[in-house]
Amino acid sequence: MKPSFLPSLLAADPGRLESEIARAARAGADAMHLDVMDGVFVPNVSFGPWAVALCRRAAPDLPRNVHLMLRDPAPHLEAFAKAGATSILVHAESCCDVAAALRRVRALGCRAGLVLNPRTPVSAAERYLPLCDGILRMTVYPGFGGQAFMPDALAGLPELRAAAPDLPIMVDGGIDASTLPLAARAGANEFVAGSALYGAPSFETALASLRDAWRSAFC
Ligand code: DX5
Ligand code: ZN
Repeated sequence: MKPSFLPSLLAADPGRLESEIARAARAGADAMHLDVMDGVFVPNVSFGPWAVALCRRAAPDLPRNVHLMLRDPAPHLEAFAKAGATSILVHAESCCDVAAALRRVRALGCRAGLVLNPRTPVSAAERYLPLCDGILRMTVYPGFGGQAFMPDALAGLPELRAAAPDLPIMVDGGIDASTLPLAARAGANEFVAGSALYGAPSFETALASLRDAWRSAFC
């Protein structure tokens, strides 16, 4: 499957988000990944719908991939859709009717994604597959950027890829040029990267090395 590369805005310089977004678009990123945290579902607080609107203004053609780390995402789906989300991703571990939330995301005109924490069995996604447009497998426990990649989080992905050859499978957390090939060989084709891109001396060079890492995974 064609790979996609999504910079995570969490790792950008918070003092100049608009230019950080524009930089990602210029470098050829496939979408911007926006991490939304409520301080309850994860021990950190980050962006609200304003960040999605900012992203739309700074780079209108760059899709906005919104990862909701909220105890109950249901009351917030509409606000994120109205702010310009292209995809909205809901955790399977959220305290809400997950199937209803995925249906609502689609009804709001966005692509729906289901997120699984590193040790939630991949089989937990099965019942939701008809309701979602992709799966996001966390390769760290969510809450913070810059954490170490968890290789054991890849368990179950090869089986999911075999069962669903056309399903977009995203990974998020600790992705860099050395860990990306492991995730790619396990079946992932969409890669979120925060520190590996925004923490690099050159965003463009770092994105090119992720692309090279994808190609090298299958050599
Ligand atoms: C973690 C977030 C990630 C994070 C990734 O809760 O979901 O998107 O920003 O950052 P890195 O690539 O630095 O692990
Ligand atoms: Zn994320």
